[in-house]
Amino acid sequence: MKSSVDVGTAEREGASAPFWLRPTSYWMPAHFPISAWTTHGAFAAWLVDVLRPQRIVELGTHYGYSCFAFAEAAKRLGLATTVDALDSWEGDDHAGHYGQEVFDAVHAVVEADYPDRVRMIRGLFAQSRHLFDDASIDVLHIDGRHGYEDVVADYEEWRSVVRDGGVILFHDIAEHDNGFGVWRLWEEIAEPGRSFAFDHGHGLGVLAIGEIADPPLRELFEADDATASRIRADFERLGSGLARQSWLETVPADAERAWAEVRRRAVHEDELQARIDALTGSTSWRLTAPVRGIGRLVRRR
Ligand SMILES: C[S@@+](CC[C@H](N)C(=O)[O-])C[C@H]1O[C@@H](n2cnc3c(N)ncnc32)[C@H](O)[C@@H]1O
Repeated sequence: MKSSVDVGTAEREGASAPFWLRPTSYWMPAHFPISAWTTHGAFAAWLVDVLRPQRIVELGTHYGYSCFAFAEAAKRLGLATTVDALDSWEGDDHAGHYGQEVFDAVHAVVEADYPDRVRMIRGLFAQSRHLFDDASIDVLHIDGRHGYEDVVADYEEWRSVVRDGGVILFHDIAEHDNGFGVWRLWEEIAEPGRSFAFDHGHGLGVLAIGEIADPPLRELFEADDATASRIRADFERLGSGLARQSWLETVPADAERAWAEVRRRAVHEDELQARIDALTGSTSWRLTAPVRGIGRLVRRR
């Protein structure tokens, strides 16, 4: 589905679309669970389109937005791409701690829409590292706990799983508060010509591993400053369209849930009132009225 957001400058001027505005850049993800990643859905679809990955591994899935964005793009493109989604599904002090219902919600979507594509691997990231051979995957998405030591540990332990010509994505490179330190690692590893940074949506860093063969991806990494600004502006606009769609899909549902709760409480209050009326109208209530009257007199004195 084409989003209603503004298109890039070149398209408006009638020129052929620039390399970062492919039809996939306008696709809508099929699922919008709560996420700080929402505005990067357009880039996720573009990346899957240009890199045609066989394997994507994600460290940190939570409600599943980024995982579903990759999986949906691959599904619509008819690719055999698989996504390994790793998470303890317990949360952390940055994402917040949560219960079994989050795992269940992600699992329900996977079962319904991506049963042969997404594999949910529950546990600490480090416990699953042995499941992956070196140089065996195309995209690694690092989005676990965001402290400097956490992200350094994830990067050092996992970077060797990415093949030559693949990429590593880092979420939250633009967050400097609340103990977030991905920006610091990003400053240490991002090199001109081998990395690209989005500032919107808390920041997303894209890091080249080895020799990048795919032309659009190479163009992304080698973009001059003016082109890089246009790429950032266009993906930010496309991302705003996704954020609006997410709002439309989730807020009315939340509001409906809130109204259902109000209605449920109103019914509960009606039931309570009926019980009070029944009690105060009952024989025993009338027989004990003198006792309550004496009680009131005593309290007044
Ligand atoms: C920021 S959320 C992931 C957001 C997700 N990518 C999205 O699109 O909304 C981080 C997740 O990483 C998980 N996590 C953090 N550190 C972990 C670790 N060492 N092992 C397993 N899971 C971890 C948390 O449980 C949390 O669900």
